[in-house]
Amino acid sequence: VDWLADLSALRRRVSSARAAGGTVGLVPTMGYLHQGHAALMRALRPQVDCLVLSIFVNPTQFAPGEDLATYPRDLEADRRLAMAEGVDVVFNPPAEAMYPLPPSTFVTVEGISGVLEGKFRPTHFRGVTTVVAKLLHVVEPNVAAFGQKDAQQVIVVRRMIKELLFDVRIEVIPTVREHDGLAMSSRNAYLTSEERRAAPVLARSLSYAVEAVRAGERDGSKLAKRLADLIGREPLAKLDYAAVVDGWTLDPVERIHGKVLLAVAARFGRARLLDNACLLVDGSSVSTVLP
Ligand code: PAF
Repeated sequence: VDWLADLSALRRRVSSARAAGGTVGLVPTMGYLHQGHAALMRALRPQVDCLVLSIFVNPTQFAPGEDLATYPRDLEADRRLAMAEGVDVVFNPPAEAMYPLPPSTFVTVEGISGVLEGKFRPTHFRGVTTVVAKLLHVVEPNVAAFGQKDAQQVIVVRRMIKELLFDVRIEVIPTVREHDGLAMSSRNAYLTSEERRAAPVLARSLSYAVEAVRAGERDGSKLAKRLADLIGREPLAKLDYAAVVDGWTLDPVERIHGKVLLAVAARFGRARLLDNACLLVDGSSVSTVLP
């Protein structure tokens, strides 16, 4: 695996792959890789000739007081995992490469960046869309992979790609879970053992809610309240939101129909964790789908 920190080296490496007729895939990450990231690499590996993994803890998606300085890092373990998954290039730039000047140019997706996560982290998605736009601009991949766990990120990034006319296909990969259902996340590293035992309440409550929809529940606000109640029973969970929203607009849904996202966020000590389920509901038919 080629480990590149330099933008022009990356551009050269990718253009030579493309000049040889090859296709390019991008897996953007902030490192501290886990099996959820491995699933993104595994999905793209057979589809492309040159697989690029970016590892960049993007400062603009963290607000002052959030965990930028303490975000977990282990580049040696990341290198081993990237090698094992057959990654061709790891792009691990310093902050000055991605932000050569104090940032004044941003990509913002209005509306859907301001709800759910956006209510708790008002500048977060602006940082995500800005850095993803930069990565797409320099790598020019044919396909890029994102995890379902950050469903709102998928929806916001997809909207940016469509509106800014990026010629890239987005592949969404299902959430990878621990044996007890906890969605894999680099931030799970923050959990104490007691919090770790409590955290699967998010996945359990979502499974319960999905079963309720399968059993015929169609009242969105009732379902959101039920989700909040279930999570609220876990004393170590401090709920930020439990929402039942339209899968495209992220507006709250009254009557559950079409593509619907059940999204939850809660704090367990220092760890702020997200999880979701996405459903396609048509009359009595209910299937789980990707956001
Ligand atoms: O999902 C992440 O790890 C980050 O938000 C991303 C997409 C790499 C942008 O920094």
